[in-house]
Amino acid sequence: MRKELKEKKLIESFRLFLWDWFGEKFSKAFKVIAISCLQFGDTGKGKFIHLLTWLWAHIVARSTGGDNAGHTFYHKGREIVLHLLPCGMPFDNKGVVNIIGSGVAFYPKAAVDEIKMLLSLGLTCDNLKIALNAKLLLPHHILLDRLGEMGAGKEKIGSTGKGIQPCYTDFIARKGLVLNDVLNPEIFRKKLRASMRSVQAMLSNHGPSGKKVVKEIMSHPHLEDGLYYSEDGTLNEEAIIAKYIEYGEYLRKYIFDTDEFLRGKLGKANILLEGAQGYLLSIDHGTYPYVTSSDCSPAGLAKGAGLRETDIDLSFGIIKGFYETRVGCGPFPTEMGGKTSASWCNNGATKEMEDAAYINATVNDQNEIRQGVAIRRKGGEYGATTKRPRRTGWLDLVLLRHALDSGANNIILTKLDILTGVKEIKVCYAYRYEGPDYNYGAKVLKSGEIILKGIMDPEVLDYCVPLYTTFPGWNKSIKKAKYVLDLPDNLVRILKYIFEEADVRAKPRIISVGPGPEETIFVGVNDLRLFSPEKK
Ligand code: IMP
Repeated sequence: MRKELKEKKLIESFRLFLWDWFGEKFSKAFKVIAISCLQFGDTGKGKFIHLLTWLWAHIVARSTGGDNAGHTFYHKGREIVLHLLPCGMPFDNKGVVNIIGSGVAFYPKAAVDEIKMLLSLGLTCDNLKIALNAKLLLPHHILLDRLGEMGAGKEKIGSTGKGIQPCYTDFIARKGLVLNDVLNPEIFRKKLRASMRSVQAMLSNHGPSGKKVVKEIMSHPHLEDGLYYSEDGTLNEEAIIAKYIEYGEYLRKYIFDTDEFLRGKLGKANILLEGAQGYLLSIDHGTYPYVTSSDCSPAGLAKGAGLRETDIDLSFGIIKGFYETRVGCGPFPTEMGGKTSASWCNNGATKEMEDAAYINATVNDQNEIRQGVAIRRKGGEYGATTKRPRRTGWLDLVLLRHALDSGANNIILTKLDILTGVKEIKVCYAYRYEGPDYNYGAKVLKSGEIILKGIMDPEVLDYCVPLYTTFPGWNKSIKKAKYVLDLPDNLVRILKYIFEEADVRAKPRIISVGPGPEETIFVGVNDLRLFSPEKK
């Protein structure tokens, strides 16, 4: 009974929030909402996709990346983690249509496993639709991804090992396959052979030690425990064909022309575009080459779902409350503990190792690495996909200013409860470049120069020293806060600073103070006055 009351209250708050914000215009004018991350991913998109599906959406579409993502949310008190299926799946039985769009790198095993997992929880998957032209992720993509990372040395990207890059590479090289191919066995066989020719040639040239490595990778449960491996060191094409056709049969009823379907629903249904990864990992806008291989911006989400960027009526951007994390390699100027932290997180550390090595670390530790570890631990910042410790650093407004160019100016702040009890909170407002002279287009970047807006070039970011403003933190728990007025003054002061400094176009709209749906503050239009820049 109490739970139902809480749910009713939440729905009511959301209605008031929309009404307050848009008045009558909302229900008529806002039909496509995008939610994307403005940092390096892992900002808690799952909770908000799930929440907005519950409160608003008729259709949810995942349209970029693949099962490299990990979206965690709580449904009816139970934690659910999805990697490939959209986070609106728990509302399938309410008629919500969940879509995996044409922009997705689609690994059939991951989808089938997740469908079975949801069914085993008593949920339904009747309205799931998967794009017939989703990019088909094949076993050799996973193999190549892992082999590539092993041999990359310092150039390692720290990929999730899910085959995402080779899958998109094949697509761009015009030798990729699409999901629909598995429904046409003879065409599938022909295309698969052609697509795999060069990989097979490379594998057959491997010596015994190379073959051993390949065998080890191919024996992974994610690759069906060796099913696709041939003892001659190549991949068994017949085994791949048989298994993929089997998956095709299982998935057949879900496969549709989703681009056409979604375009047909424009203006008629509430469509939610579910982002994956984050803007700073976007192939087009991120810290290239330390990025993923899809465009995680709102424009990328629209395109991957068969829509246009201009179809998006409202774009939410998610950031973590006053800290950020990065998984894998690449520049991260505000990382607590700098290169030592990066090297720890990227070289096989696990949560267990970390718990043993940093047993007494606290969120107020004077030592930055230990402080970073303690915040990571408190925030549960370990990869949902890879279990790696996420590199942890302070909120970086230089990168945020760049990410706000995506147009995702309606900000959702998550995990604000994690920094409760931290005595001093640092926000990076600028960098000082301290590297060698560097030609940056027509200008030469010189040591000592101040950078206010994210130059995404790692050659520059690696030499950037963050400049911080330090704020006193807050001690009182905010988990029960329902309104902005319930938040401690010190917290509101930091929020105000961020929105003044980052970009006046950005507005805080939703604040999350815990993982549950009810631990959410909708920021009313009147509350915004608290955050708007003072007239000078
Ligand atoms: P890939 O997407 O597996 O190719 O990995 C490329 C980079 O993106 C690596 O640094 C990954 O750690 C990072 N990455 C990929 N997916 C996610 C995600 O969902 N959250 C955070 N980082 C990710």
